[in-house]
Amino acid sequence: MGRLIIVSNRVPAPRERNQPAGGLAVGLKDALRQGDALWFGWSGRQVPEMSGDPTPAIDRVGNVTYATIDLTTAQHTGFYQNFSNGILWPLFHYRVGLMNYSRLDWEMYLSVNAMFARTLRPLLRPDDTIWIHDYHLFPLGQALRDLGVKCRIGFFLHIPFPPWSLVRALPGAELLLEDMQAYDLVGVQTPEDAENLNHALRMNNMAERAQAFPIGIDPVEFRTQAEASMKGTEVSRLRDSLRGAALVLGVDRLDYSKGLPERFKGYEALLTRYPEHRGKVTFLQVAPISRGNVEEYRQLRCQLDELTGRINGAYSEFDWTPIRYITRPISRDVLAGFYRMADVALITPLRDGMNLVAKEYIAAQDPADPGVLILSHFAGAAPELDEAVLVNPYDTDEIADALHQALTMQRPERQTRWTALEKEVCRTTAVSWANDFLRALDGAPVSVSS
Ligand code: ADP
Ligand code: F6P
Repeated sequence: MGRLIIVSNRVPAPRERNQPAGGLAVGLKDALRQGDALWFGWSGRQVPEMSGDPTPAIDRVGNVTYATIDLTTAQHTGFYQNFSNGILWPLFHYRVGLMNYSRLDWEMYLSVNAMFARTLRPLLRPDDTIWIHDYHLFPLGQALRDLGVKCRIGFFLHIPFPPWSLVRALPGAELLLEDMQAYDLVGVQTPEDAENLNHALRMNNMAERAQAFPIGIDPVEFRTQAEASMKGTEVSRLRDSLRGAALVLGVDRLDYSKGLPERFKGYEALLTRYPEHRGKVTFLQVAPISRGNVEEYRQLRCQLDELTGRINGAYSEFDWTPIRYITRPISRDVLAGFYRMADVALITPLRDGMNLVAKEYIAAQDPADPGVLILSHFAGAAPELDEAVLVNPYDTDEIADALHQALTMQRPERQTRWTALEKEVCRTTAVSWANDFLRALDGAPVSVSS
């Protein structure tokens, strides 16, 4: 059997305990437990300059060989920061107004994709299956085909695919659709994304390629981690510090797609409209800084600093603080215990490809006394997790009402909802997601004849 070649911009450092936050790396790592695999991508390092193409650093851990390359500062700026995260990210999260388009960045994006292809090519064997991930690498399949690669190549988009009427705001958006033609199969997170992408392809007289494969987690491992973490010092410190107050938890990269200001204002509305919760609830938001050099992310950080200060200034008592806000990363095993402890998870993205945090929260709960998941309609996970308390994150009063409902929900209702949610979380796991995609890729018509 041939190897599986995974390609993604972000590759988790295989030997590091503390991984950067992000659904792609977490989901794939959980999925890659079997078979012989090579994972190729960016090392996470920048170097000032480089003569010629980089040489991949190779590291083998378990069944996975990691081959990673550095980027120059100019590549990192043009490809990762400006084009991927300053143009594609806002556009694909329906925020066309935040897109800062520049042709130079588009050129750097293409040139880094071509460099990825040249650097990966010598590592490939004819019977490999290649699986490319996410918006950083749309053109990589075609760049590999241009170098004569005839293996099956699949692509998975971890973020939403909006309607064509929006995507076409990107100058040259048709080229991204042409890039899709190099893939034998394109996976997206939800049926809505698949419909949007296939519609875009049809509108441009191109062959449909998209199918929905919602990504999952490893629920058994996460539950085990959560149970173990309950015995750790961090969880008991958190519990002691709450002194009986209910815990509302938010965990997200510090990203404008996550609806954090709306969430903070929703919590503020709870304190205003339902004063009986004052002093009896604490909101802990963990939001590690992400893409900190992109201007919109810097502005969001200032906005949240200001909101936290204002709400805490207005509502704190000398012995109670309504919001605890942490922008440093916290290790996932500790987080798992926090999830289990939390009475409510408050997850309010304005748009999200999937949102693995929602699934992790469900997996972490104690079946005898589970917490309540409040989830935005606009998370990719919402159609699967429809037994959550679903909210429109633009309506701060709706968030406040949902918080009140969750904080006063009786155990039988919590258990009924959680049982249905847990069934869903266990139905599609990271492993079944990868297997379903790869099986479909294996059976897909090949886009290049050998
Ligand atoms: P995204 O891919 O947009 O970041 P997801 O919710 O799908 O959103 O995935 C985030 C992943 O990152 C989850 O697996 C979560 O556990 C992890 N994560 C989020 N915040 C932290 C944090 N502070 N420290 C460590 N891991 C985190
Ligand atoms: O899941 C979406 C995603 O954009 C991944 O592609 C990415 O690795 C992750 O979020 C975190 O973002 P970044 O790699 O920019 O830190």
